[in-house]
Amino acid sequence: MKNIIIATENMGKFREIKALLEHSFDNFYSLRDYKDRVPIEEDSDLYIENALKKARKIGDRFGMHTLADDSGLEVQALGGRPGVRSSRYGKNDDERIARLLSELEGIPWDERAAVFKAYLAFYMPERERCYVFYGELRGIIGMDKHGQNGFGFDPVFFVPELNRYLAEIPMEKKNRLSHRGRAIQALIDFFH
Ligand code: IMP
Repeated sequence: MKNIIIATENMGKFREIKALLEHSFDNFYSLRDYKDRVPIEEDSDLYIENALKKARKIGDRFGMHTLADDSGLEVQALGGRPGVRSSRYGKNDDERIARLLSELEGIPWDERAAVFKAYLAFYMPERERCYVFYGELRGIIGMDKHGQNGFGFDPVFFVPELNRYLAEIPMEKKNRLSHRGRAIQALIDFFH
């Protein structure tokens, strides 16, 4: 039996990662499966450090292979904000999107370039080894919300190559091209 903990309470992230790794592991756990909460402060300005910290802390605590994702949205017109602080940009997805659209008010379509970044840390406690993988997805922040799928900023993230917003496409399609999907594919390629 191959078990893995996905070190997140974000069920959007969990569902995507689980679907991408379904052929590599038998049982998937998220932090919501553990009553015994392990508080982890994402206090670094670097995604990579937050991902490493989450993976090591959870992997050592539960003695299981652990995958942590630290990701964020960087908007060029906002000097790269919200970036590594994306999850703290508002209390929930609606609030985060509303704040983003209001900060971008009056900025024309061709100046709304953005990139999603994902750093994944895969930790094997028995080997005391951590492997890091990276993926990104470039797009444009739209003027309003489109679609019901996905999570986070997906309804306002337009992908030119698809001519669609991320929340308008099914998860399987998002996983083939997203920042997280690309980082997980790099992990799969590395271990095969
Ligand atoms: P963290 O990695 O838990 O610090 O949070 C990442 C934050 O970035 C999420 O809460 C979302 O707001 C945003 N984010 C990361 N990946 C995605 C994605 O695939 N779609 C939409 N928003 C995302």
